[in-house]
Amino acid sequence: MDSAPSARKITRPRPKGPKQLWVSVIVLWLIVAGTAAYVLIRFRNAGPWIVPDAAKLLPNPVPVTSSSLTAARSLFLDNCAHCHGDRGHGDGPDAALYKPRPASLVQALRAPSITDGEIFWKITAGRRLMPGFKNQLSDEQRWQLVNLLRTFPESPG
Ligand code: HEC
Repeated sequence: MDSAPSARKITRPRPKGPKQLWVSVIVLWLIVAGTAAYVLIRFRNAGPWIVPDAAKLLPNPVPVTSSSLTAARSLFLDNCAHCHGDRGHGDGPDAALYKPRPASLVQALRAPSITDGEIFWKITAGRRLMPGFKNQLSDEQRWQLVNLLRTFPESPG
């Protein structure tokens, strides 16, 4: 009998080349980095949103007038409604894409102790998925938005 076939069977598989090793290292790294990024975004600052006392006490310099509310309305529709919904109920078209879901501003603002300064600070600073608007909107525009949020009706629609 010819011994060639069994000799072929015991041929060892080629040892992994350096290229395959690099691929494994990169894939592993991507998995670790991806998990870390997810955990950071999902759970960082997960507790109550702490606003400095000095910011809470800032008075709103923008008077509530119908023209400033109209201006704020269009700012809100352009910058905020896709997440928070047209009337701030957290039901904008993109809301489902976010975890945690964008806050219902109506619910947040119903807290009796919340000050204009606090809302202004949150719009300015942002947190997690809520972008900060410090650079996109002027101080006046952000105060106008605070006034607008105060006018949102409690029930949606
Ligand atoms: C990308 C989606 C997104 C956009 C755009 C966005 N927000 Fe938010 N907003 C969020 C999320 C998510 C939270 C909750 C953040 C948290 O608790 O970490 C939030 C929270 C808030 C809060 C705090 C509510 C509370 O619980 O005290 C205010 C006020 C607010 N947003 C106002 C605005 C205004 C005004 C705009 C537009 C200028 C805006 N947001 C644009 C997603 C968004």
